[in-house]
Amino acid sequence: MSADFGVIGLAVMGQNLALNVESRDYTVAVYNRTRFRTDEFMRDKCEGKRVVPTHSLKEFVEALSVPRKMILMVKAGPATDAVLEQLFPLLSSGDVVIDGGNAHYSDTEKRIQQAGKHGIHYLGTGISGGEDGALHGPAIMAGGDREGYEQVEEILVKIAAVGPEGPCCAYFGPGSSGHYVKMVHNGIEYAIMETIAEAYDLMSRGLKMTAQKMASVFAEWNNGDLSSYLFEITEKILRRVDPDTGKPLVDLILDRAAQKGTGKWSTQSALDIGSPAPTIAMSVFARVISALKEERVEAQDVLSGPDNKISADRDEFLRDLFGTVKITVLAAYAQGFRQLQDASRERGYNLDSAEVARVWMAGCIIRARTLTQMAQVFREEPDLPLVFLATPFREVWDKGQSGLRRVLAQAHASGIPIPAIDSAIDFLDAYRSARLPANMIQAQRDFFGAHTYKRIDKDGVFHTKWEEG
Ligand code: 6PG
Repeated sequence: MSADFGVIGLAVMGQNLALNVESRDYTVAVYNRTRFRTDEFMRDKCEGKRVVPTHSLKEFVEALSVPRKMILMVKAGPATDAVLEQLFPLLSSGDVVIDGGNAHYSDTEKRIQQAGKHGIHYLGTGISGGEDGALHGPAIMAGGDREGYEQVEEILVKIAAVGPEGPCCAYFGPGSSGHYVKMVHNGIEYAIMETIAEAYDLMSRGLKMTAQKMASVFAEWNNGDLSSYLFEITEKILRRVDPDTGKPLVDLILDRAAQKGTGKWSTQSALDIGSPAPTIAMSVFARVISALKEERVEAQDVLSGPDNKISADRDEFLRDLFGTVKITVLAAYAQGFRQLQDASRERGYNLDSAEVARVWMAGCIIRARTLTQMAQVFREEPDLPLVFLATPFREVWDKGQSGLRRVLAQAHASGIPIPAIDSAIDFLDAYRSARLPANMIQAQRDFFGAHTYKRIDKDGVFHTKWEEG
């Protein structure tokens, strides 16, 4: 039986993706580096299914019909390189290799070159949605070789989540565009998660609300303008009680956030191309600071501060917080889309923001109701530099900003850190300032380094001998 499609790497994502493809009436060949995992997968999950187990890459390649189509679901980085080094010589010109991991975009560029030498179509493809998404329908962000995409499009579209505007799968452009879009998706993911964590902290430490009460607030928000996957799971997390202690499980989880690097890469790239993404950056730094658990525990007794209590009317504060969270979440999307546009210009991706918003509507971690409106806004104005400039989102800012300023003041007065929320308002206040204090920075640069400056009242480049006269 020759297989229509192959999956390399049988960790949970790979397994679920293989089962998803099989469920759409395809025969799937699978291969995993360790045989045990393949055997276990076949025994536990593949009975009666059209899944062909293989135990070497050679056997895997031979099991596939030509041109061969396959997806790599292995750890990003050296593990991917190790597989590709063995795989490429076994393939023929015209075969299609999809890298479905969270690869760094520069690795993807390098691998496209390597694949090209063998005549292989290589697609750097972001796949979002976690375990469940992989099984029932992820969001798929493909990029790379267009011809290669056309060969696998039917399969990818069939396994993708279906959103309000169709299957959440698209080809975004040449090179590493697919992985770049997924990287920024993860940057936005970090920022929304941090925003939710800050809102939770304000309610929990600030207002001393119980987990159940907070769950109800998140449920309400999720039924309104903030309707999205991350708000939905936050409610569920808050409702979960630890069977051993009877306490909310979330309270028993160590407050040290891990990361695998995609948010950091997103920020590094934003810095490289000069794209303002402070809310995403602060969310990465918030995880970095959270990791300093031992230092924080010691510092608590050394550095004084207020007692974290927020003395405001609870209902009023929660109303303000709703607007605050809406603005901050929107800032994350706004900065992410802005970065994609900047990267697209810089790297020749030719991205379509409306299409990115459409693909993110279902299946992925940052799926949210607001993306439907965002896609619409980008369809009307593809080069819109910041979503806040469009009417529906300007209204979110208009309605929410005074509440946000109150939340900010109360959070700072109580000593509860809110780096994402802070960064969002600073970003927007800077963005809407026709004049910023950068004139002072230019003067200082000229003072100590003769870096010169421009003037607002006449053309030319100027230097002042600041110490003289
Ligand atoms: C997704 C997720 C997925 C993964 C993150 C977690 O879209 O399905 O983003 O890719 O859960 O990479 O990243 P951290 O471990 O860095 O939080």
